[in-house]
Amino acid sequence: MKRVRKAVFPVAGLGTRFLPATKAMPKEMLTVVDRPLIQYAVEEAREAGIEQMIFVTGRGKTALEDHFDLAYELEAVMRGRGKPLDALDGTRLPAGAIASVRQQEPLGLGHAVWCAREIVGDEPFAVLLPDDLMVGTPGCLAQMVEAYGRVGGNIVCVEEVARERTASYGIITPGARDGRLTEVKGLVEKPSPEEAPSNLGVIGRYILQPEVMAVLDAKERGAGGEIQLTDAMAKLIGAQPFHGVTVAAERHDCGDKIGFVKANLALALRRDDVAPALRAYLAEIG
Ligand code: UTP
Repeated sequence: MKRVRKAVFPVAGLGTRFLPATKAMPKEMLTVVDRPLIQYAVEEAREAGIEQMIFVTGRGKTALEDHFDLAYELEAVMRGRGKPLDALDGTRLPAGAIASVRQQEPLGLGHAVWCAREIVGDEPFAVLLPDDLMVGTPGCLAQMVEAYGRVGGNIVCVEEVARERTASYGIITPGARDGRLTEVKGLVEKPSPEEAPSNLGVIGRYILQPEVMAVLDAKERGAGGEIQLTDAMAKLIGAQPFHGVTVAAERHDCGDKIGFVKANLALALRRDDVAPALRAYLAEIG
């Protein structure tokens, strides 16, 4: 079984739910406490053993690549002032660890993943959507890689979602269950609560086999007129092992305003440098 060494970060979306913040700045640069969403996702990937990060970007997204580049001027000034550089930890990756491709038009998540096909090549790869901020020890992707080591094939991260929210997710038809692993017998994108085959929704972490790229080649449009990753993954069911895994991690949907504000509070309240003052302030405003 080939090891998962590459991860695709589809970051070419328009982030319309977060306007005006995302007018000139990528959604993935939104900051939770003191680091941008993309950094949490990249750190999670590195912890899981990923060596190459592939950003699928669009116009106006160069801040994402700059964030992981060497900042000569900044570092020189900081050194000159005797300031420690550890605040930059996690932002300086080994040379060549980040590759990026452009998705010229936001035609959907499936299309974004397909844009990375040449860099992914013929090996399994992970997909991380940075707006799903996952907090867990070990991290979400590390838990999925561990599951992958046992069953191989394709793995999606699943979570029980409220029935009335099924139309916001890809939903699986569950098969046999073994602990945290559930066999995937079917997948449907954004079903209504009446049509949903279960309440197990796919969240923003995937381990996929390269064959999904050949399916995406057909560029079939699905829900919302977009080229959906869910539809392409559904075509692999039966041909390759396919599992959903529920991980021991907390998810914050930072693509949504309330999820984003909650994430800031939850993570800040776990930080020794911020929590005491924040707790005092929260008590004060009641
Ligand atoms: P979302 O559905 O959250 O879309 O995409 P969005 O455009 O980012 O945000 P809203 O809904 O307009 O506020 C899920 C993920 O897929 C990526 C997004 O960047 C996000 O990480 N994506 C989506 C692409 O990279 N390209 C696309 O064409 C669509």
